[in-house]
Amino acid sequence: MTNLTNNFDEHQQPSITLQTGDCCGPECCADSGAPLGEAAIKAAVREHYSQVAQAGCGPSCCADLTEPLIDYGDVDAQIIIGANLGLGCGIPTAHARLQPGDIVLDLGSGAGIDVFIAARAVGPTGHVIGVDMTPEMIARARSNASSGAYTNVEFRLGEIEHLPVAAGTIDVVLSNCVINLVPDKRRVYAEIWRVLQPAARFCISDVVTYGAIPAAVRNDAELWAGCIAGAMDRTEYFQLVSAAGFEITVKSEVIYDAFKGADYGIASVTIEGRKTIRAA
Ligand SMILES: C[S@@+](CC[C@H](N)C(=O)[O-])C[C@H]1O[C@@H](n2cnc3c(N)ncnc32)[C@H](O)[C@@H]1O
Repeated sequence: MTNLTNNFDEHQQPSITLQTGDCCGPECCADSGAPLGEAAIKAAVREHYSQVAQAGCGPSCCADLTEPLIDYGDVDAQIIIGANLGLGCGIPTAHARLQPGDIVLDLGSGAGIDVFIAARAVGPTGHVIGVDMTPEMIARARSNASSGAYTNVEFRLGEIEHLPVAAGTIDVVLSNCVINLVPDKRRVYAEIWRVLQPAARFCISDVVTYGAIPAAVRNDAELWAGCIAGAMDRTEYFQLVSAAGFEITVKSEVIYDAFKGADYGIASVTIEGRKTIRAA
């Protein structure tokens, strides 16, 4: 997550507006405070993570990144080097109860941190697939896989709204701070439901909001890329996930003081969702 905003006033213009080159058409008008279109959001998100991938920045080298939000604790440092760009908002693998032999899918895999942790857990009889829409992130993850000599991982270029994965083939879906970046979250959860085996589950860390988020925040493309503007209200998010056919358990939750306004805020939640029957 990027630390781009603090206390926004609804009547203020966003302090961060699009950089030259981010703008991509008439719908791209963050500096006027008008709603962003889906294409503009996705272009801004892809451009942002392309730059992060090429810079190879982690919390220690990117000035605009917050203090590391995630402490991977006793995870083997060898896994983390090069694969942790400080972009997560939880540790879904810590709650996913991965078993040897599991087939795991990580949505928005970035440089591969959660894929590599999962790869250790599922062992040589298991397999972990990372999907990311940013070519430079996929290149970085593949390079990390090669340097770490992982034989049970692969990285596929694609959008998580249209997963390049066959139906009913996955034991556990993971994702870390990605779904908030996607305009059509309903579509993402429909895809998760499609690829999971019957009664299988996901464990996902994501950003949610509470209170009334100012329009100036919601309509800022750079704050979309920073995992803030696209985050859904916590209650509505859980309703959306339940309606997609999942039974939810909250595994952990952290409220970010840095993003607190007078009557709104941002939190990270890690939730498990078990696939049930799909709601009509
Ligand atoms: C905040 S980073 C998190 C990366 C990784 N999960 C981690 O914890 O380090 C978000 C990642 O999701 C990818 N992403 C964003 N929207 C996506 C989409 N619609 N489909 C696939 N990947 C997406 C970005 O390219 C980026 O690599």
